[in-house]
Amino acid sequence: MAVISMRITIVSWVFLLVMPAVVVGSDGEDTPTPAPWPERFHAQLYMNLSDGRLQISDLWYDWPAGRNVNLMQKQLGVLLHDVEWDNGTSFYYTLGPTGHCRTMLFPVGIPRRDFMVGSTYLGPRYTDGFLCHLWEKVDFIWYYEDAATRRPVRWDFYDGISTHVMTFEVGGVLEESQWQAPSNCFTDDKDREDPSENDLLPHSLRKLT
Ligand SMILES: *[C@@H]1O[C@H](CO)[C@@H](O)[C@H](O)[C@H]1NC(C)=O
Ligand SMILES: *[C@@H]1O[C@H](CO)[C@@H](O)[C@H](O)[C@H]1NC(C)=O
Repeated sequence: MAVISMRITIVSWVFLLVMPAVVVGSDGEDTPTPAPWPERFHAQLYMNLSDGRLQISDLWYDWPAGRNVNLMQKQLGVLLHDVEWDNGTSFYYTLGPTGHCRTMLFPVGIPRRDFMVGSTYLGPRYTDGFLCHLWEKVDFIWYYEDAATRRPVRWDFYDGISTHVMTFEVGGVLEESQWQAPSNCFTDDKDREDPSENDLLPHSLRKLT
């Protein structure tokens, strides 16, 4: 009997010691939230397209100017430019003699700086060698942020495509000429469209704005 009551006492103590933490955690104030994206940044991204293909991207985000560029390089492929404007227009184009362009009109602008607002906190996770916080939003994106520096480390889309942030240069600005879509984006020649360029469109972060 003495042994049993001793155990109960220990369990009660453990319970009391743990309780305050549980109470603090459940009132929401301690739940981490993702840092908003900086107003301007340049990030180099390494992506596993999950079907075996790999891609590196340069992302230039410019919130004050209402524009966002993704320069997408599939392994041994042609550089694909994706210039997104906050008025909903996106230009997808390649340059050179075989260059083509596709213009898309989205009902929303570029990703908000706080596009992860409304996400669910899933807890701390180690990924890519960093201790991160992990959030999930609308079963569409899983977003990892470095717990120490609050920089994005990785995000995964619902279908397995994972993006790894290799550099994150706050304040980085793309030179002005790189924002200008080429003239063939402003003609109606649909023959110039390349359907294979479409395969990343479902993953646009615009969906989260
Ligand atoms: C890319 O992802 C696929 C599926 O998850 C995996 O099998 C493959 O090893 C990954 N490739 C690289 C280079 O990480
Ligand atoms: C959006 O802005 C871009 C850049 O100024 C322009 O080329 C495009 O025509 C605009 N789209 C619409 C729908 O106004």
